[in-house]
Order: sequence, then C-alpha cells, then structure tokens
Amino acid sequence: MNDILLVCYSRTGNTRLVADELVRLTGWPLGLIHDTRPRAGASGDWRCMLDAWLRNRPDYRYEGPALERFEHIVLLTPVWMKGLAAPLRTFLGDHDLSRQRISVICTQGGRGGFNAVEEIARLTRQVPSPVQILLQSEVLGGLSPQRLEDFVVQVLASSTYQRDRQRPAWLSPVAS
Ligand SMILES: Cc1cc2nc3c(=O)[nH]c(=O)nc-3n(C[C@H](O)[C@H](O)[C@H](O)COP(=O)(O)O)c2cc1C
Repeated sequence: MNDILLVCYSRTGNTRLVADELVRLTGWPLGLIHDTRPRAGASGDWRCMLDAWLRNRPDYRYEGPALERFEHIVLLTPVWMKGLAAPLRTFLGDHDLSRQRISVICTQGGRGGFNAVEEIARLTRQVPSPVQILLQSEVLGGLSPQRLEDFVVQVLASSTYQRDRQRPAWLSPVAS
C-alpha cells in the first residue's frame, strides 16, 4: 500500500513545480488545495498579505485522496509575509493530522520559511521531519535533483523509523 501523500497549496505555481517533480520521482499521490476565491492580480496580492497579517483562515477546496488513508503526509506550501500561506492554515485547522507523520517543503523568495514550519508544528502538534526550504530562484532556475532525492530518502527513512517504533512490544526487535 502506498502510504505517503503529497498535499500542495500553490498560488503562482512555484510550489506546484516542486510537487510535480516529487510525483515524477516517487509516484506518490498528490492532493491539491485550491482557493475558492481566485487570488489573481494586484487585488489577489493584497488579499494574500491581509490574510497573512491577520492570520485569517480563508475558504479552500481540497481535491485529492482522503487523508485518513495515509500514514505520512508531505505538506508543500509557499511562505507568505514570513509565515504560513493562509489556505494551508485553514486546511490544517480542519484536519487533525496529529497521528500521521508530517514532512514539509516550503518555497520562498528569501526568508520566513522556518516561521511557516513552526506554525505547521503547532497546528499538527508534532515536529515535522524532514523539512526542506527552497528558494523561488532555485525552483525556477531548475531544481537540483539531488536535493529532492535527498528529501525523498529522508521521508522514506522517517516512515520506516516510525513503523519500527510502532511494532508491538511482543515482537522481537527489528534486525539492524
Ligand atoms: C503575499 C505574499 C507574501 C510573500 N511573503 C514572502 C516572505 O515573507 N518571504 C519570502 O521569502 N517570500 C515571500 N513571498 C514569495 C513566495 O513565498 C514565493 O514566491 C513562493 O515560491 C510562491 O509560491 P507559489 O508560486 O507556489 O505560490 C511572498 C509571496 C506573496 C504572494
């Protein structure tokens, strides 16, 4: 069973490029968070900033597999105003992911990614791992395959680690 799901919000396509590349590398299924009210143009920019400043929880539409079917969820999000993109905030408020394993990829212009990861940690009540923060320039300049491959290896390793930790106590330890 494939138990890793990618969930991506992307307003202008950068984060989606990373998600698509991960799908190509791994074949993991992809769920998409869409804005219900389009954020195109300058008025869209302002609404993004306002939602970020006020920590709003705007409406969204999720298109993808049911989250409950997956043990491990990789969240992909842009950084807004040195924090989390607002639609992902609403999404995480609506779904209790505290029992699933969480990993994160952020794309950003320059700074703020770690604040976004901190908010994801609060909303999912766990420390996400692995975490990768990518610059928009890296994404648009052609992603380094090595960086994404390293991320995939870490996701797979953390899933195996989690499964091993959950082995029933009466089983013998996993051979190393
Ligand atoms: C409203 C808004 C606020 C942003 N704030 C930041 C920021 O604080 N720090 C940063 O590094 N990039 C910031 N960015 C740049 C985006 O994080 C970056 O372009 C990202 O790759 C966009 O992803 P997307 O194309 O998937 O929407 C901001 C972009 C927008 C639209």
